[in-house]
Amino acid sequence: MNRSQEEFAKAQRIFPGGVNSPVRAFKAVGGTPLFIDCAKGAYLYDVDQHKYIDYVLSWGPMILGHAHDEVVSSVQKAITRGTSYGAPSVSETMLGALLQERVPYLEKLRMVNSGTEATMSAIRVARGYTKRDKIVKFIGCYHGHSDSFLVQAGSGIATLSLPNSPGVPESVVQNTVTLPYNDTQALTTYFEEHGEHIAAVIVEAVAGNMGLVKGDVEFIQAIRCLTKESGALMIVDDVMAGFRASYTGSMGVYEIEPDLICLGKVVGGGFPVAVFGGKAEYMDCVAPLGSVYQAGTLSGNPVAMTAGYETLIRLTPQVFTTIEQQVETLCNGLKTLAKKYAVPMQVVSVGTMFGFFFSPKPVRNFEDSTQADHELFAKVHQLLLERGVYVAPSQYEANFMSSAHTSTDIQQTLNAFEEVFAII
Ligand SMILES: Cc1ncc(COP(=O)(O)O)c(C=O)c1O
Repeated sequence: MNRSQEEFAKAQRIFPGGVNSPVRAFKAVGGTPLFIDCAKGAYLYDVDQHKYIDYVLSWGPMILGHAHDEVVSSVQKAITRGTSYGAPSVSETMLGALLQERVPYLEKLRMVNSGTEATMSAIRVARGYTKRDKIVKFIGCYHGHSDSFLVQAGSGIATLSLPNSPGVPESVVQNTVTLPYNDTQALTTYFEEHGEHIAAVIVEAVAGNMGLVKGDVEFIQAIRCLTKESGALMIVDDVMAGFRASYTGSMGVYEIEPDLICLGKVVGGGFPVAVFGGKAEYMDCVAPLGSVYQAGTLSGNPVAMTAGYETLIRLTPQVFTTIEQQVETLCNGLKTLAKKYAVPMQVVSVGTMFGFFFSPKPVRNFEDSTQADHELFAKVHQLLLERGVYVAPSQYEANFMSSAHTSTDIQQTLNAFEEVFAII
């Protein structure tokens, strides 16, 4: 037994499944999850002293790599000034103003502690503002684990084959309508019949929870038009794609202005921070200005605000482009290898995110994603781990690049893939 196996055995006596978030348990790929000792730059080090090139990056946040020296130094200084005040601080305004500057339609925003809180609060605002109940979401999009969204969500739920979760009352999800992703016709038909009851459509415009799947331009534009026409709000869930799909997030890809947007992951630089915000007209419904209630003891935490601010000011357009180029090099290399070894693989990238499916045809929605070869993925995942490459432990997850990844890391990754493709 190695140390990770020993620690996993201990953890299973403490946490359900040995983990504090399901996908960490490696259920989709088998084997024991690695217990991480520390992380620096592009690398993870496990408790057995193995080093891995990390493309999970804590599921997206670590865009400058792990433990960036300057970010760490600022966070250390912030900690000595007190770790939580429960009262307003300048650190919140600084990060908030920076977000407003980067994301033009964030006229007003609120800081929360997780993506789950952000999406849950955004739909509350939409329902409060429109005085309607129905929310439309798309199959395979994940918007966190609040009750209303646990219907045909992707990612961890897909990995564990839980289409819905016990414990979610039917009455709660009665007002959640699920439609197929990238299906403009289904959406249009639904709006024709029920448009006046819909409070909001929530979408991962660049979806990362059924693997990486980009929304078609026509589909995303249709969401914008149909919501506008019917008086519903368009909520873009950019918890994952924010500051990753493009410099400003997914809306930079489509050049569309949503009504509300949810951010997370990168905004906190590895600390628990998320955001919901958008047009002032909607956000002014939130308490104490309006009557839509939302609150949080640790929201706007000064240490977390510092980590987010210090991360985002270092993510310049130039840094972003460099990371994007590394993604391109890696993905081009993967496509070449897939061809050379006749592996039926789809390689997808958007900005600083990438993913791959073992599928002979492009993946456009959740159904396509489930049809990909998940057994082959599990095998490849294990063989890559043995070669020091850590990719997301499920084909339903996206992968990420950071500014700390070097050309040597990319080449080593491609060498590992080549060795694996030669033996599968
Ligand atoms: C698109 C999207 N929305 C919401 C969430 C939920 O965020 P959190 O895990 O911080 O609650 C996630 C998490 O991965 C996500 O990818």
